[in-house]
Amino acid sequence: MPTFDVSSASPTDVVADLLMLPVFQGQRPGPGVEAVQRAMRADLMATLKEHRVRGKVGDLFTLPTLGRTKAKAVMLVGLGPEREAGPAAIRRASLKAARAAVKFGSVASTVGRVGGSPEESAQAFAEGMALGSYRFDRYKERPVDEASQEKPKLRKVSVLTDGDRSEVRSGIRRGSVYAEAANWARDLVNTPALDATPAFLAEQARTMAGERGLTCKIWTKGDLQKGGFGGILGVGAGSVNEPRLIELTYKAGGASAPIGLTGKGVTFDSGGLSIKPAEGMEWMKADMGGAAAALATMRALAELGPAANVVAAIPSAENLPGGSAIRPGDVLRHRGGKTSEVLNTDAEGRLILADALAYLSEKQPRLIIDSATLTGAAMVALGLDIWAVMGSDRGLIQDLLAAGQAEGEPGWELPLWTDYRRHIESSVADVKNVGIRWGGAITAGLFLREFVGDIPWAHLDVAGTAFVEQGTDYWPRGATGSPTRTILRFIEEQAERDGGSEATGSGRARGGRARR
Ligand code: BES
Ligand code: ZN
Ligand code: MN
Repeated sequence: MPTFDVSSASPTDVVADLLMLPVFQGQRPGPGVEAVQRAMRADLMATLKEHRVRGKVGDLFTLPTLGRTKAKAVMLVGLGPEREAGPAAIRRASLKAARAAVKFGSVASTVGRVGGSPEESAQAFAEGMALGSYRFDRYKERPVDEASQEKPKLRKVSVLTDGDRSEVRSGIRRGSVYAEAANWARDLVNTPALDATPAFLAEQARTMAGERGLTCKIWTKGDLQKGGFGGILGVGAGSVNEPRLIELTYKAGGASAPIGLTGKGVTFDSGGLSIKPAEGMEWMKADMGGAAAALATMRALAELGPAANVVAAIPSAENLPGGSAIRPGDVLRHRGGKTSEVLNTDAEGRLILADALAYLSEKQPRLIIDSATLTGAAMVALGLDIWAVMGSDRGLIQDLLAAGQAEGEPGWELPLWTDYRRHIESSVADVKNVGIRWGGAITAGLFLREFVGDIPWAHLDVAGTAFVEQGTDYWPRGATGSPTRTILRFIEEQAERDGGSEATGSGRARGGRARR
């Protein structure tokens, strides 16, 4: 991750390898462009026109300054139509620009200066830059940069401002915490299952918690047996890598009931005895994307300190078809006593989440959020850019959708159609783990609902969004960190709403983020 600083230097005088300046659709100059044009004695907007670069979101055009500014090169970054240009366009454009800028060591920019709220715009810019400069090269003998003999990767980003530095500073801080958390989730997801075992995730959580002052309790196999976590144990039974339950607590909200958080942590999903086809199975190392997002959310909360209480219970198991694996037809007894009939060992995520949801419910949280790479059906329904949400509470779902929208991680609601409960009625157990083929994301949601009780709850199916198989202009092949930033923003906004009404909070200084 690059380091960020705020500078009041002018675009023509700032020393940097690259100066990133915004332009709007129709070759309209953004902040700093006119001064740089004068210094360069060139009409950059006419140059854009000549090269048919319109200034749509993510359009990029880089040229050398030939010594006419103190920056060595200029990158013009499209933000789309001027009146729509705000945090969403900034985040998206800088995500792409950062990927194009990795070979520059230092960047200075006015891109985060566009839009109505300096804090939100700065956050979006920092997020875009930090997410866009992510790379996963830990498993290369030499880092990618060195191998391709490029210049060192993006080290420093200066945000050029002519206004209130403290708002910009707090936006940058929030944006880099958000992005750093998401990038950590990406690291966890991208790490091969050979290394990223349930014990590894637990150790990562323990270290993270220790460094940031979160309470951490790791439930090992023996603890899970004593506690009656039959779902986690069942799914983990076919692997020599024993399952875990990772429990993390964040407390800064006085005596208020906590928010419950969980996420699917299947470190590898072979399907178990209901084994998956070989093609594409390598991606099932990413089947702990929901768990990674929950861990990363806890990490960022500890860094940002919103006035909230949050308890996370994150189940992790490896789904392999070893000699002691569960079989189709087996019945598992979950935490709290409900049983499920396993008709397909590849519908394993819901089995481990059932235990975690039941356990969280015992704590009487004010609400529960789970996220999981749960079903191919959610991908069929909504594609690769949009997560699915289902749940029992209208307001919670709306708030999560709004948080996702604001973070550029969009979701869409699927109905938790209670009539479909009949598809998971079992003749031998309380519920069975698969329904019919159609509406598979919904029957998975209905399965989870059985274990939540009457606590307001929302389930995010992120099978499509947690990783990308084919890289795009915005995301390289691999993990995205989705839905870390969505959940994080939801919790921060929830804390802010509470702080406004109940005044439980510690009175942190916080520039007013738009409240709905
Ligand atoms: N982890 C998969 C879902 C998945 C598929 C996530 C592709 C990301 C990409 C999940 O455990 C699974 O196998 N689901 C089955 C459920 C079925 C057996 C009811 C599915 O969606 O096919
Ligand atoms: Zn799975
Ligand atoms: Mn599966």
